Amino acid sequence: MTRKILVLPGDGIGPEITAQASRVLAACQAQGLDVEVAEAPVGGAAYDAEGSPLPEGTLAKARAADAVLLGAVGGPKWDKLEDISKRPEKGLLGLRKELGLFGNLRPALLYPQLAEASSLKPELVAGLDIMIVRELTGGIYFGQPRGIEERDGQRVGYNTYVYSEAEIERIGRVAFEMAQKRGKKLCSVDKANVLEVTMLWREVMERLAPEYPDVALSHMYVDNAAMQLVRAPKQFDVVVTGNMFGDILSDAAAMLTGSIGMLPSASLNESGQGMYEPCHGSAPDIAGQGLANPLATILSVAMMLRYSLGEPALAERIEAAVGKVLDDGLRTADIAAEGERSVSTSEMGDAVLAAFEAL
Ligand code: NAD
Ligand code: IPM
Ligand code: MN
Repeated sequence: MTRKILVLPGDGIGPEITAQASRVLAACQAQGLDVEVAEAPVGGAAYDAEGSPLPEGTLAKARAADAVLLGAVGGPKWDKLEDISKRPEKGLLGLRKELGLFGNLRPALLYPQLAEASSLKPELVAGLDIMIVRELTGGIYFGQPRGIEERDGQRVGYNTYVYSEAEIERIGRVAFEMAQKRGKKLCSVDKANVLEVTMLWREVMERLAPEYPDVALSHMYVDNAAMQLVRAPKQFDVVVTGNMFGDILSDAAAMLTGSIGMLPSASLNESGQGMYEPCHGSAPDIAGQGLANPLATILSVAMMLRYSLGEPALAERIEAAVGKVLDDGLRTADIAAEGERSVSTSEMGDAVLAAFEAL
């Protein structure tokens, strides 16, 4: 059966990186992958064209798709929009919520060729392979009440950090199962010394642990976790945490792998439908200049093949092609050493395609 893929380029470098990822997807089609690929607007681009960062038509197509590939959304042009519901980021958050994509997998994997590009000493990151499992549809991002209002003569802003036991349990199960398939270590990151919501988080993780006797569960406060990530990152195998802590820790983990431009992600719902996107944003500072690293987006296509399309061999082939271009010394500016020649976004795409086809 032909499966449907929806590509949402978005803003800033979004269209540049999804263009390269789409070429890789087309190369998979040429290898027999039976998919139909469509494109739709999201984010600031959709707001400009249709007055909404998540137009009805885009949402309907996303619902009908087996998998969605998203570039990035947002940028200074829309940061001052008075109506917060029209901000580009609301398009992304709306997609996650509407599709129920609660399980966000963010693998921080160091390609050995990039050990020198990491901000940490090579020996601290050699062999680094962390899977961050971030809860994506709850927590402080979505909690009610929220807002900015007048209280006692001044404005106050507030958000609510809330998780139900059921929400914690379902992300916990994703993480325990992931740990079972990997190094059998799970570190749950919270702030249970201060926040009740994460006291409950810790309790639920503890409650699940006996069902996964082969997994060693540990707990860490988020401030220490941030420190440990840059002190001794190889102590981690799978990390599970809430929406906001996961957002922050995954950007930090990305840098350990050489660049935020290397970190892909999968966001999954209960029926295996997924949205795939790089962890980075729309990088307005380099947009339109052919400087963006497309590898995180290309590697997100590999995750799509693995997690939503049941095509692990094609996923591995893409990952191997990325390894090959890195072996060959190709570097976009973000992963190039001082003074080293770098290639453009599309040259990197060309090289990955050539390597993919040669494999
Ligand atoms: P960002 O990730 O866009 O950029 C941070 C830094 O990393 C910049 O210097 C940028 O040039 C660099 N960078 C990011 N991706 C890169 C790539 N592929 N290749 C090379 N360098 C890369 O974060 P920001 O500057 O905080 O946010 C910019 C905009 O993106 C904001 O509007 C923000 O809301 C949005 N954003 C969107 C997403 C998303 O769509 N998933 C994620 C994060 C931020
Ligand atoms: C990410 C981004 C988003 C988030 C923003 C753009 C809403 O930072 O995907 O990491 O905070 O989840
Ligand atoms: Mn982020």
